[in-house]
Amino acid sequence: MDVSAIRRDFPVLRDWVYLDNAFVGLMPAQVRDGYSGYVDQWYTFDTTGDRTILQEWLAKARRVREMAAAFIHVSAEEVAFDMCTGSGLNIVVNGTEWRRGDNVVFPEWEHNPLHTHTTARHGVEPRVWRPVKGVFDTCDLERLVDDRTRLVQVSQVSYVNGQRIDLGEVSEAAHSHGAKVLVDATQAVGALDVDYRRDGVDYVSFAPYKYLMGPAGLSFLYVKRENLAELTPDRTGWKNQIWGGDNPEDPVDLGTAEKFEYGTLHFQGMYAMERSLEYLNSVGIGQVEKRNLMLSRYIYDRLSSLGKKLWMPSPSESTIVSYFQEGALELAARLKAMNIKVTGRSAHGDHIRVSNHFYNTKEDVDRLMENL
Ligand SMILES: Cc1ncc(COP(=O)(O)O)c(C=O)c1O
Repeated sequence: MDVSAIRRDFPVLRDWVYLDNAFVGLMPAQVRDGYSGYVDQWYTFDTTGDRTILQEWLAKARRVREMAAAFIHVSAEEVAFDMCTGSGLNIVVNGTEWRRGDNVVFPEWEHNPLHTHTTARHGVEPRVWRPVKGVFDTCDLERLVDDRTRLVQVSQVSYVNGQRIDLGEVSEAAHSHGAKVLVDATQAVGALDVDYRRDGVDYVSFAPYKYLMGPAGLSFLYVKRENLAELTPDRTGWKNQIWGGDNPEDPVDLGTAEKFEYGTLHFQGMYAMERSLEYLNSVGIGQVEKRNLMLSRYIYDRLSSLGKKLWMPSPSESTIVSYFQEGALELAARLKAMNIKVTGRSAHGDHIRVSNHFYNTKEDVDRLMENL
């Protein structure tokens, strides 16, 4: 991997030590070109043959859907465009037929906890998987799941302590009781080489504005083929119309995840998204993950040798390393004034979160350490 050449594609890296990718990722220049491509096409009505601009956009959506599906090792028919991670969670929850006495299980500190207006209205019991000494243990999860558990939610990588959860183990624990697994993968896709078909999970929701270096306001929902028929779309519009009357657009195949898309999509974001996926594919996600884990281990070791109290007992095979720090907010602000960006938080106990991506270097990490 030619890291110097890559860094030239990210102009902001000239001036910043950016180790806050778990908050928002950086975009390469190519993604900006993607946005411009959308605007240019719109300004000139540059369409193929007698296609309308909407048909051009829908064609772009088909291409990006295929690229995103290949990226996470599932098929395009199992992927829907959505707005944000939490919206995917709501599609799954609202499309499920709840019965009184059902329960759901989710870890403490989920970004979008699986206790919604809908589950509350149906009297669904929320069961919380609590960490022990800051770490989640799958054995504790197994004790919470029973035959009335309908959904187990988990973040593949915790946005708090960076713990990477073994999704195969979670699937086994849930499926042995007939429960489904809903994954929040927003801190994983783009950073790690993921494969949701292999992991056997049921639903995955993720946003691309962190490690996928893509737009905000667009997200992806994976629904495993076997679950498509039983999950009812919670919204309806022209795109997934079931009313038998006229529809000026081509009907979508209601046997695919496209049935969850009901109206105009974030097409501009897709033009950008296409470029970010092309970029990551050209580097190779295997290489991206390898470099990411090398860097996060380096961060972990450097913090350890500075005597910092790390959240995880060992590096957690993700791109997030958190440590407890009194006055974390003030420290993050002081670092920002020096053009060094990390997250400082008081929620969950004062801590600093350092999060790398493949365009970072050991020198970036050294600059941070010199200033802690
Ligand atoms: C694990 C995780 N999920 C989801 C989100 C964002 O949620 P949404 O896409 O619904 O805004 C974040 C943002 O930091 C996150 O860390």
